[in-house]
Amino acid sequence: MSLYDYPRYYDLVYGSDWKAEFDFLTGIFNQHVTGTTKRLLEPACGTGRLMFRLERAGLEVDGLDLSEKAVDYCNRRLRKHGFRESAWVGDMTDFKVSQKYCAAFNTINSFRHLETHQQALNHLRCMARAIRKGGVYVLGLHLCPEIGQPIEEESWLARRGHLCVQTSMWLVERNLSKRYERYHMQYDIWTPTNHQVLDDEFNFRTYTKQQFESQLVGQVAEFKITAAYDFSYDLQRPIEVDHATEDVVYILKRV
Ligand SMILES: C[S@@+](CC[C@H](N)C(=O)[O-])C[C@H]1O[C@@H](n2cnc3c(N)ncnc32)[C@H](O)[C@@H]1O
Repeated sequence: MSLYDYPRYYDLVYGSDWKAEFDFLTGIFNQHVTGTTKRLLEPACGTGRLMFRLERAGLEVDGLDLSEKAVDYCNRRLRKHGFRESAWVGDMTDFKVSQKYCAAFNTINSFRHLETHQQALNHLRCMARAIRKGGVYVLGLHLCPEIGQPIEEESWLARRGHLCVQTSMWLVERNLSKRYERYHMQYDIWTPTNHQVLDDEFNFRTYTKQQFESQLVGQVAEFKITAAYDFSYDLQRPIEVDHATEDVVYILKRV
């Protein structure tokens, strides 16, 4: 059982944090997509915290995720608000679409769940087939900075009514030659009468600037990196990625 199979807790903690990403994504589509943006895809959509808000803004958003429980949560919320149940259970390394999308997004490191070069490459190739020419893939991840100390732990807390959830994530092991970081993730869940703790561990694949830009994206002729931003999601402040950069949102243009 993965912690992603507890979508109610995930969405309480991360779901509230959508506005900055929403404004950033819609701004990116305006600035970087050639032509109009109507159809969107979110691989690894989870609970669809962004999908649902983008639908509400008049866009058509489809999503896929490995977790049946997260997809079910996502579709139930879409249905409740009168939208299509547009998420499906699927693997972002191996999927096909029947109609191409104008743009796609994958903002908070989900891409790093793909543990091998081949999986990452397969994912980018699926995305290249899924996005029309002139479209973009907005891909956010933490790089491993070659200068300075990377962030090794984070914690978030959220409350709704009598439910309070704290998520904590900390680094257990980093192996840069084998290209993985092992993280422990813990959910602390409080209700007025109970405190429950759920634990999970997972690997993130590590990327330096060069490993991401030339060794991976450079292998997929259909994508060209046209801009980069950081997790402050400030459209007015594109960044130059260098060897000290940690959080990056790459804009991959479908050429
Ligand atoms: C950090 S969550 C992000 C969810 C959502 N994108 C968001 O911004 O809230 C990572 C998601 O990646 C999904 N995932 C991991 N590996 C996947 C794969 N190979 N294919 C599809 N989804 C995957 C997990 O099930 C989980 O829902």
